[in-house]
Amino acid sequence: MDVLVVDHPLAKARLSTMRDARTDNAAFRDALDDLTLMLIYEATRDAPVATSPLHTPVARTIGYRLASPPLLVPVLRAGLGMADAAFGLMPEAQMGFVGLARDEQTHQPKPYMESLPESLAGRPVFVLDPMLATGGSMAHAIGLLTERGATDVTAICVLAAPEGIAHLRETGLPVRVVTASVDERLNDSAFIVPGLGDAGDRQFGAV
Ligand code: PRP
Repeated sequence: MDVLVVDHPLAKARLSTMRDARTDNAAFRDALDDLTLMLIYEATRDAPVATSPLHTPVARTIGYRLASPPLLVPVLRAGLGMADAAFGLMPEAQMGFVGLARDEQTHQPKPYMESLPESLAGRPVFVLDPMLATGGSMAHAIGLLTERGATDVTAICVLAAPEGIAHLRETGLPVRVVTASVDERLNDSAFIVPGLGDAGDRQFGAV
């Protein structure tokens, strides 16, 4: 399983804003929006392009577009904060949704919503979730996609724990991970350390 760590200086700076406990909800959302642009930009670096002729005001030349815009799947709640930036860079993409809440005791994902196209055969999919902690939520979301025929899945995460990457690897699911950092470890509450806290609460407030 490929893991791409985007450690560009600007990505590091936005991630630092998100990590800082003094950052308020609005500034956290802004930094997540900026960082998502950078992660998507790097995740699509080798995406196939289609060409067609076009006219500039001066001459004829070749125009480019993504050959297969991905299905974007934000994982609710926290992934919602990545949706606008991803859509902004790929306005021709489509969006599906998966709702998962991690049980605070067992750390297992509890599904509460899914809205996905029936068939995903031959379609690239980008799953958007800021946090890959135990990897249980991401594995569940990707399972829903592979059940529908997806074979080309990219997990776009702000932060990943080594435990979560190892778990995804063990599942054998067809996924690559694009993240701004692989942090040190999980703590006893399965929070990423040093991490940034709870990305859902830090965007939207605690529920
Ligand atoms: C967080 C996060 C991931 C999940 C990661 O969501 O956004 O979805 O936990 O943990 P895992 O890798 O151990 O499964 P949470 O359940 O807190 O819900 P929220 O997005 O509604 O805040």
